[in-house]
Amino acid sequence: MYKYIINGGYKLHGETFVSGSKNASLPILAATIISGRTTRLYNVPDIEDVKITLEILQKIGCKIKKDKNKIIINSKDACKTTIPDDLMRKLRSSVIIVGAILSRFKEAKFSYPGGCDIGARPIDLHLQNFARIGIKINENSRYIECKCDKIESKIIDLDFPSVGATENIILASILGEHEVIINNAAKEPEIEDLAKFLNKMGAKIYGAGSNIIKIIGVKYLKDVSYKIMPDRIEAGTLLIAGAITNGIIKINDVVPEHISPLLNKLCEAGCEIKTTKNSISLMANKRLNSVDIKTMPYPGFPTDMQPQIATLLALSEGSSIVTESIFENRFKYVDELARMGAKIVVEGNTAIIEGVEKFG
Ligand code: UD1
Repeated sequence: MYKYIINGGYKLHGETFVSGSKNASLPILAATIISGRTTRLYNVPDIEDVKITLEILQKIGCKIKKDKNKIIINSKDACKTTIPDDLMRKLRSSVIIVGAILSRFKEAKFSYPGGCDIGARPIDLHLQNFARIGIKINENSRYIECKCDKIESKIIDLDFPSVGATENIILASILGEHEVIINNAAKEPEIEDLAKFLNKMGAKIYGAGSNIIKIIGVKYLKDVSYKIMPDRIEAGTLLIAGAITNGIIKINDVVPEHISPLLNKLCEAGCEIKTTKNSISLMANKRLNSVDIKTMPYPGFPTDMQPQIATLLALSEGSSIVTESIFENRFKYVDELARMGAKIVVEGNTAIIEGVEKFG
């Protein structure tokens, strides 16, 4: 088990940069299966989820080389359409590999990815919408098998703008002669990055980043080199680390507009923030004020920043209300904060935080 030992009490001062986005890397790595060509990816973060995804790609038949800061994936000999059970269970987002396998081979077999700490996280929206574009689904208690002769032209209305379901429908719809339109699509920047990558490969995806996405099937894709977008959640986490310690920090290689809801809340709490096109400077030279937060799909406040901002608010002046509206079980960390001296009461999907001056 890994252990972190943190000697607290220091203000953070300095300048740093963020890695490539995890949530953009995972669907882009999956997408490399579709082309049957060579893909060079830059700025892929060196993290466990990426390692598991690469392991799945290898099991499917992709050849992978790592060379300094780039990963080269050749999917010419990819031929397997089953995602191994053990790897599927290790990583929930392995479900988006299904869309990529389906696009290339028109069949895929996989087991349920299972729930996780933050909620049940079903995949009903993925499967429902696969069915809507002509994919036949056979489920039993162990496996799900998906098959189709071709993807059908359809207009899909997503019940909820699920990030994973939007990505999976895009991936499944890349190759063919159809036209698929997704209404109420997720608008997250990582979806825009996936579409940019696929379009560079020769796909025809229009409207990614808005709530209506159109995918026109193409016959083939080509070799491509691509640099993954910066990780907005890592950037936000570093900014909160600066704010919580009353520090002065600068984060480079970020896209400030990707985290504007967080920047607005940090300003409201009393931080001074300056941005350029690709950097954010933050100064927090006094105890911060309480603010209320409600997580929402992009461009709302990201659920992935909810625990970090709640920790900051636990040390701010006054009471704050944090409402989680994406995942049903994302306050599990509160018990640990309470053990350190935070005053937080959770009622359903709401946390009421009474700021304390410092943890015990
Ligand atoms: C992605 C992100 C994750 C982020 C989340 C919400 C990746 C790898 N992960 O996760 O970091 O927290 O978006 O911004 O990109 N749902 C269903 N049925 C489905 C699919 C989703 O009920 O078929 C529900 C989920 O249980 C959850 C909500 O919809 O309550 C949002 O899920 P979704 O947007 O799909 O998140 P992920 O793609 O899993």
